[in-house]
Amino acid sequence: MMFDNTVYNDFVEKVAASSDILKVIASYVPLKKRGHNYWGCCPFHRENTPSFSVVPDEGFFYCFGCHKGGNVFKFLSLIENISYGDAIKLQAERLNIPIPHKKRSEADLKRETELNSLYQLHDMAQTFFHNCLTKTNYGKAGLIYLKNRGIDNAVIEKFHLGFAPPGWDKLSTAFIKRGISESLLLKIGLIGKKKSGGYYDRFRERVIIPIKDEKSRTVGFGGRVIGAEEPKYLNSPETLLFNKRQLLFGLNEAKRAIREQDYAIIVEGYMDAISLSSHGINNVVASLGTAFTAEQCKKIARYSPNIYFCYDSDSAGQTATIRALSIARAHNANARVIHIPDGKDPDEFIRKHDPAAFKKLIANSLNFIDFHLHYIMQTTDCTTLEGKVKAVSFILPILASVDNLVESNGYIIKISQELGINETDMRNELQKYRHSKNRFEPAAAVSGRQFANKTDDAATKAERYVINKIWHEPGLLDYVLAAVPAEEFHDTAHRTILLFMDNQIKQNHIMNNVTASENLSDEAYAELSRCIVEQKNDAESNLLDDYLKSIHLSFLKKSYLKHSLKADELERKGDDRFQQELIEIQRIRKEMDGAN
Ligand code: UTP
Ligand code: MN
Repeated sequence: MMFDNTVYNDFVEKVAASSDILKVIASYVPLKKRGHNYWGCCPFHRENTPSFSVVPDEGFFYCFGCHKGGNVFKFLSLIENISYGDAIKLQAERLNIPIPHKKRSEADLKRETELNSLYQLHDMAQTFFHNCLTKTNYGKAGLIYLKNRGIDNAVIEKFHLGFAPPGWDKLSTAFIKRGISESLLLKIGLIGKKKSGGYYDRFRERVIIPIKDEKSRTVGFGGRVIGAEEPKYLNSPETLLFNKRQLLFGLNEAKRAIREQDYAIIVEGYMDAISLSSHGINNVVASLGTAFTAEQCKKIARYSPNIYFCYDSDSAGQTATIRALSIARAHNANARVIHIPDGKDPDEFIRKHDPAAFKKLIANSLNFIDFHLHYIMQTTDCTTLEGKVKAVSFILPILASVDNLVESNGYIIKISQELGINETDMRNELQKYRHSKNRFEPAAAVSGRQFANKTDDAATKAERYVINKIWHEPGLLDYVLAAVPAEEFHDTAHRTILLFMDNQIKQNHIMNNVTASENLSDEAYAELSRCIVEQKNDAESNLLDDYLKSIHLSFLKKSYLKHSLKADELERKGDDRFQQELIEIQRIRKEMDGAN
């Protein structure tokens, strides 16, 4: 995208200046005033007591629970799930501020035209299939099939289901008559090329399920046979628009419910998603016959960190669940598993029983350890010694990933009971496993990290105060950096913020919540929001020097520890350089004593 930069920046500044962050946020979240701040329950995570705060005169919001924060555009982009740039445009539209025209390159224009024609063609095809299902004689077979699966007209309309007529050239003839090129039809896989020359329709005599992206644009189709032919499902080929690893079927419809209920249910098949939704369970999406991907995980995480996998109960489904769980955990999602006791998949279960029964399954969903435990118990004969050994080696890596001691202890008790293993043995095995994993990480480094963590709180608080001060009085920056260089700041985000401030000030650039959002990483920007929002209620006291001292002291403590560890190590190796370390340690000690 190429804008004339100054025009665009002026536009953004204007929209920002005309925006009332309080008014915008209050239209989504009920807020109450306390001190300088307004407080409410965070719309981005589930909570009962307010930890979400807005400071209107600073133009920032921040949630102390889930650590999201930023300016009015950041808020809109999060709550509407649009990009930051689109949030600016949305707010401009709401304020009736004209959006400057983009200057686009030839290549951009060409690509845009091509994309548009692809979207249009999918739209046309969707209408063609839908009309065929609902308005023609050909469609009767499809309607009967859907009715038999308990899918009524409302669901047909909601998902724009359709039917591909029998015969080899119904769609191609109709579309070519309307001036659509064969090459375009070929490109999105609506037709195929015959060996003997000429073309044939890809989808014939199948119920058609349009696959939409998050913005509800149709980007591909799935077609299900109504008889017993093979393959059961035929999908559009991968195109510029249709990338199975990126897409989640039903997300366009489900995203609201996912955010409101704060969890997403993932099923394997689109028919499962359609069926659950037709029974009033709306926070459901389907992966498109591929393994759950990191891209899909990130997509869901934008609406909720909680993912419930509800895959088929056959062994393929269970193996897929194990893989999906490890992807979800690697991306910090909180994953659970909904186990279907009878019936092969969610669709069959909910039709055989009712929504209440399915909700009971949700309530009984297993967390990731319980699922693994359940799985190994189902698939291994744990009455034999061999089975026990196998079960333990399967479960150890899972158990080792639990950081919380109380939690892992609870599991050790439970697992040893279920597997019929001595609890102490289990504990020892876990220790051994952890030890073998940590072999290459010296114990000293671990204790060093623990020590550093203890100093976190005081230093972090001091650093936030200092950043807040500079934000409001940029002239202080040089004074601060002369007293404590940026490298001595303990928090990486704080160092990033200081560098940004230094850069803006040196280059005479504006430093405000808009330019900060443009230059900082998400993490650093959220942290900056915290520095501003958190300190707002502090009295106008001048604690700057005290806080600078405490940052420096905390840095000294860290270096003291670092050099002590180094000295130990060198001494153990019989390396003479440990003397130098000792001298350095003494110097630091002296400085620390002086500072106290
Ligand atoms: P399933 O075989 O579990 O289908 O495939 P299902 O959802 O239970 O379908 P019904 O209930 O028999 O109609 C799950 C998903 O795998 C992909 C599809 O995306 C399907 O939704 N799949 C399956 C294919 O792409 N091709 C196939 O031939 C089969
Ligand atoms: Mn099924």
